[in-house]
Amino acid sequence: MSFPPSFLEELRARLPLSEIVGKRVRLTRAGREFKACCPFHNEKSPSFYINDDKQFFHCFGCGAHGDIIGFTMRHDRLSFPEAVEALAGQAGLPMPRETPMEREKFDQEKRLLNLLDRATAWFEEQLFSPAGREGLSYLRGRGLSDDAMRRFRLGYAPQDSQAMIRKLVSEGFKMEELVSVGLAKKLETRDEFFSFFRHRVMFPVGDRRGRTVAFGGRVLGEGEPKYLNSPDHSLFHKGKLLYGLSRARTAVSQNQPLIVVEGYMDVIALVEAGYSGAVAPLGTAMTEDQMMVLWKLLPPADTREPGCDYSPILCFDGDNAGLRAATRAVERALPIVTPAQTLRVAFMPKGQDPDDLIKSGGKGAMESILTQARPLIDVVWESALTGRTLRTPEDRGSFISNLRQRVSRIGHETLRQLYLDEVNKRIDALLRPQQFQQQGGQRLTAQKSRFSKGQQDIAPPILNRRLPQSARPGREMALLAMMLRYPALFNDFGEDFATLTFTQAPLEAVRQQIVDLLASDSHEPLDATEVYRHLSRLAAGDLSVGYRQAHLDDILSTTALHASLATPDQTLVQVRLRWKSIRNMQLREQLQSDIQRASRIFAENATDENQNRLKALHLQADALEREIDGSAQ
Ligand code: UTP
Ligand code: MN
Repeated sequence: MSFPPSFLEELRARLPLSEIVGKRVRLTRAGREFKACCPFHNEKSPSFYINDDKQFFHCFGCGAHGDIIGFTMRHDRLSFPEAVEALAGQAGLPMPRETPMEREKFDQEKRLLNLLDRATAWFEEQLFSPAGREGLSYLRGRGLSDDAMRRFRLGYAPQDSQAMIRKLVSEGFKMEELVSVGLAKKLETRDEFFSFFRHRVMFPVGDRRGRTVAFGGRVLGEGEPKYLNSPDHSLFHKGKLLYGLSRARTAVSQNQPLIVVEGYMDVIALVEAGYSGAVAPLGTAMTEDQMMVLWKLLPPADTREPGCDYSPILCFDGDNAGLRAATRAVERALPIVTPAQTLRVAFMPKGQDPDDLIKSGGKGAMESILTQARPLIDVVWESALTGRTLRTPEDRGSFISNLRQRVSRIGHETLRQLYLDEVNKRIDALLRPQQFQQQGGQRLTAQKSRFSKGQQDIAPPILNRRLPQSARPGREMALLAMMLRYPALFNDFGEDFATLTFTQAPLEAVRQQIVDLLASDSHEPLDATEVYRHLSRLAAGDLSVGYRQAHLDDILSTTALHASLATPDQTLVQVRLRWKSIRNMQLREQLQSDIQRASRIFAENATDENQNRLKALHLQADALEREIDGSAQ
């Protein structure tokens, strides 16, 4: 749409630039001008100048330059007409409409937006009225504060199929209007109308500017469908909008990362934890249009901080289904990614969504998942590898062509070439045949630690997703080293060992292989060399085994910290004691965190059951401490 120049002039005249900028950036006077630290690039001393008389700003640092409209477009990430409309609203200027048809369309849109806003307000009122008691207690039960509910304008749609209709019609809205935005539906049999959402808690979905255009309604508790979403209409296109978009738009200009999650509740949990760049698609997998919408929020490539990764982070479940969903998202993205518009992927702990994770582990748990977000190339590589063996030349050939075929779908030519170079390099490192054969069975003690850094090319990267962060991996390595050097331990501790889960994927994979091998009674008891040979052979052959030779070398390293617990010259009695003491340390940590959680739950909800649970944990902890004391004497 084009605006008459006189209208734009009027707009500039009514709104001094310093006032518009001053709402977002701190200004200081500099003679006849104002100056500020540039909001479009990172700087410590001001080189951003605003001249109200000339109606423009200019940054001597990055060259940003423009008027109120340019500033609003860039700062608030709005399109030209959106910026003009927002500014006209602030200036109290009516929007010029060129044709009667345009004016009518505009007026109609305004009525519908107003209707949707009134509906939002009505649902909100219901939630906090006696009629909404059940809805309110459902949302409270999910850990939401009343403040948070108000921030997200959550509401409740009552069971009564006429209440909302009566109210909105009494306010002057027409039934066709209610139907056209999906708030009401007509009965098929009779000329009667009913509310689309009944007995559900309501999540209003805002457009880019935060104006409600649709709703998601959730059943209280169990029931199908879990979420009911507004149908598409003139102001709402599911595939082009994301829940949380308008907040995320502002978040980006405050250097917050864009985070894409699956559900409404996940967005709310993230925002409440301080990640205001969280968004979610609306009940479908993320579309190309939605990716483009997100990329458009990013600052222009030439104004980004070097070394900072601005790409949106897609969060998926850490199980196989999650990897498949990530693969599909990546497939969709490849044709449209560019160096400036790409994605990252973070995997959640198995079976937990961000809402669950933040509840159980707090912001810290989420932060650590996000900082481990993987670049697109790793996900491409990983998904090509998953579920394959690379034993025969045919296996390897099909792996390579599958990988190259994926990469060839990248639309951006330079990027495609760079990806191809990178996967070729990785293929080379992975499949170079001598690499693994040379490391055959005899080397019980490799010297160099290659576990964490620098060897991403050899170890499938996702295996290294969690880098050692606490004493846990060290203890896990020690347990594995002991079991590898003293397989007889399995007679004493096999049952316990078989039920453990290790935090690091490669260590966990090694543990499982040891259990499979030692628990099977189809052979004579194995000695250390035989166990090692078996595991080493697996590492060389089959990638889906989940660990590499380098991981075995690391476990058996004699220089690493954990090694002193598992030196090869101890008596079995000594090793058994060591084993017990490590397991006790692990149990102690586990109990401590269980106790912390149980006390929190008890503090929030002082039921007998919660108290008993807490007591039982304390008793277990006491018993454990006595055992630890006893064995220390
Ligand atoms: P999930 O089933 O993963 O649920 O749906 P959730 O987000 O964890 O929901 P809670 O925590 O049980 O409340 C993820 C998203 O998929 C859409 C919704 O947008 C939901 O937030 N969805 C899900 C639907 O649109 N319809 C459904 O029936 C289910
Ligand atoms: Mn959930």
